[in-house]
Amino acid sequence: MPRQAKAMGADLTSASPDPPDSDAAPRPADPGTEHAAGTKRRISRRALVQAGLIGGAGVAALPLVALVGSMSPTSEPQPTNLSFSLNTDWLFGGQYMAGSESLFYDDSSFAPVALPYTVAPLSWRYWDADAWQQQWIYRRHFDGGALLNSDRPGNRIFVDFDGVMVNATVVINDRAVASHQGGYLPFSAELTGHVTAGDNLLAVVVDSRCLPVPPISYGHGTFSIDYFQPGGIYRDVRLQVVPQAFLSDLFALPVDVLSSQPRVDVECTIDSALPPSADGTLLVELLDGSRLIAAQAVTVSLTSTGLSVAKLSLTGLGPVSLWSTETPKLYTVQATLTFPGAGSHVLTRRIGFREASFEPDGFYLNGERLQLFGLNRHQLFPYAGMAMPARVQRKDAEILKNEFNCNMVRCSHYPQSPHFLDACDELGLLVWEEAPGWHDVSTNPAWQDLVVQNVHDMVIRDRSRPSVIVWGTRLNETRYVPGLWATTRQVAAQLDGSRPSSGALAHHSMIGWSEDLFAYDDYHRNWKTGTAWLEPPFAGVPYLITESVGVYDVRPHHFAWTDPPAQLADQAVLHAQVHSLARSDPAYSGLLGWAGFDYASPMALDRDLVKWAGVADGFRIPKPGAAIYQSQVDPGIRPVIAPTFFWELAPPPGSAPPRAQPHASIGAGQVRVLSHGDTAQASPAAMMIASNCERLEVYVGGAHVATALPVTDSRLYSHLAYPPFLVPLPAFAPSDMPDLLIEGYVGGQQVTQIRMASDPARDTLAMAVDDASIYADGSDVTRVVFRAIDAYGNQRRYQSGELTLTLTGPAALIGDNPFAFGEYGGLGAVWLRSLAGQPGLITLSAALPKLGQAEIRVRSVLPDRGTQVV
Ligand code: GAL
Repeated sequence: MPRQAKAMGADLTSASPDPPDSDAAPRPADPGTEHAAGTKRRISRRALVQAGLIGGAGVAALPLVALVGSMSPTSEPQPTNLSFSLNTDWLFGGQYMAGSESLFYDDSSFAPVALPYTVAPLSWRYWDADAWQQQWIYRRHFDGGALLNSDRPGNRIFVDFDGVMVNATVVINDRAVASHQGGYLPFSAELTGHVTAGDNLLAVVVDSRCLPVPPISYGHGTFSIDYFQPGGIYRDVRLQVVPQAFLSDLFALPVDVLSSQPRVDVECTIDSALPPSADGTLLVELLDGSRLIAAQAVTVSLTSTGLSVAKLSLTGLGPVSLWSTETPKLYTVQATLTFPGAGSHVLTRRIGFREASFEPDGFYLNGERLQLFGLNRHQLFPYAGMAMPARVQRKDAEILKNEFNCNMVRCSHYPQSPHFLDACDELGLLVWEEAPGWHDVSTNPAWQDLVVQNVHDMVIRDRSRPSVIVWGTRLNETRYVPGLWATTRQVAAQLDGSRPSSGALAHHSMIGWSEDLFAYDDYHRNWKTGTAWLEPPFAGVPYLITESVGVYDVRPHHFAWTDPPAQLADQAVLHAQVHSLARSDPAYSGLLGWAGFDYASPMALDRDLVKWAGVADGFRIPKPGAAIYQSQVDPGIRPVIAPTFFWELAPPPGSAPPRAQPHASIGAGQVRVLSHGDTAQASPAAMMIASNCERLEVYVGGAHVATALPVTDSRLYSHLAYPPFLVPLPAFAPSDMPDLLIEGYVGGQQVTQIRMASDPARDTLAMAVDDASIYADGSDVTRVVFRAIDAYGNQRRYQSGELTLTLTGPAALIGDNPFAFGEYGGLGAVWLRSLAGQPGLITLSAALPKLGQAEIRVRSVLPDRGTQVV
């Protein structure tokens, strides 16, 4: 099995594409938490082979460190590990030229860039994979003085990459030190001995061609999978200085959390370059904020260099607060390793005390059944590809949890940003994590070894996180490959025995199923009635629906803003139905709809190369389809009225928006006609209004037209915590242009209301920015949304005009300017990226013919704390 981060230790010119094994492997970065200052090291290929991993015998057992007696836990060593962000001041040279990784290559014409950075400019549609499927050169000069001028000359230096798409070769001062295959997992290169006190050159040759690296199978191309993979160094990079013996990994697992004696089992992986027979101390502490809950200090006695593992348990914790989706309480485990004369190293992980299990009668969290309610997420964004920084990654988790009321997300179909997962831990958003894949499994042994390696690296990266509840060890919708799936399951189980393995299947059959949790992508729909239905769960087996609703690869079953309103409302109807059906039988652990957000896909050939499957679009703006998610929240927390229609005149015949193909009849002056066969929708003019209120009072033009109650007589809706309302609304004449008023009542009291204006003469252009301030670090980004709105702020579909943006102040615009506002459907967004070291006021104004102008302001501020930059 090829190692993911290969130690090369040779001149690039003599580096073979498949260098020999070496145990001096670079190690993956520590993606754990912001304050995790340590590093970890990959188990070498040789160790894995010796342990029989390829034959399925399991993960290499690292030597156990002898723990000699306990010590007082009060020792206070001074950590010497340093961490430097390396996101800024890169030089991007475009396509790789022979020798462009050399110190002696003239890079004066290279473009200054900050990470994360995609190699090719992108729009919101029509992505052309040829634009990035090349080899590229990134260079970063740095002053080694800050790294070497520490007290201990024996310190080791690493560069950590959180993710580079697809393959990477790392070169320091003309020495190739590591290579890595695959775009979704971290890797590191050891630079020790190659860094000088003056100017150093770190060069990264990025190979973004369509390589036979999972998810792409051998002999397959870009169009073989349903998501684009734009190339580049698209996640964070750090430099780390650590002592000669340091903690390369920390796994902290809460155990027996529901008992009176919970404990934390801790596994510390030590990477030592010290002479054998070194004795040191390991201190492990459990902290609640700054409050010490428990600690244990032991003497560690190393007998060899390289990797070894120290295991211990923290007990006597007293009562602990549980982590749950409602109260995601986090604790910190901090390990400190100290060797006399070599210094000490600190590594932390955030943990949560929770017990999660899938049973035949559903999912249980902390002993209580919890219906899983969620969406799938791709990490693709318009303009930026996958290259979005922490703030934007975290925002997705906030939208899913706080706006769409999801308690679970599936990271389809690869390990996603550590920042996104950090937010999931903090917000209480449960996570299905899976190894990169999509449909195809190559028979090539090297390819299958990469799948095993990916599962290994994914579990190592995220096994301390409380949010992760499933390992996707079988790639998405793949055939049964007994040996491979047995191996990936075993690898996950040996690295983390606490979580089930699974893999989403496209067929509803137990034949060839060998995972712990049966996961099925259920896209059934009765085409006569238009209603959704689900296959039944299998008796005695934990069962989860991992995808539902979605889109089909042909028109008209997509949900773009320019599609007919009836079609957009249909998305809400279908998501409501599948979630209701999934709640009708406790054997369904829950359902994850397809999808949270639209994404760029090579398979959406007739749809601008965008899969319009999201309940929010790629800009993360909720569509009518999101209404049913928005309404599933206690009205005491947030009363919601979310209509799934636009209060507007139907377009005159023949004026359908570009690319739209109406498939439902829209009567003159009517907004929306549902045509499903469900009895609850018998009325031909019933509109769906998603709400958590008990009663709605509806007025048109000031006249009361309906008192509405939620649907309780249909299995298609009634099992929802807050079933929607189906309200017949009268048609109106163009001469009337009445307002619509919907009042929401709970317990006899009005708790909210919404007004919608039909008259387009009062429409305006609205603009909003997500953040009042961002950091002037060159990486930070915030989103600016612009929308055509009615007199009360509701989305107006608007089908003409280009929006022109004017930017002043220290920022770069990530987005199209002008933006095809009408073609997109009357709304859109761009992102603003700060400029490193340039604080100040940023102003973005927008102008649109007919709707006028709008403006937002953001302040860019220097980080008051944070990582040092070299
Ligand atoms: C599923 C697949 C998803 C997505 C969906 C439809 O089969 O797992 O990744 O492609 O179809 O768009």
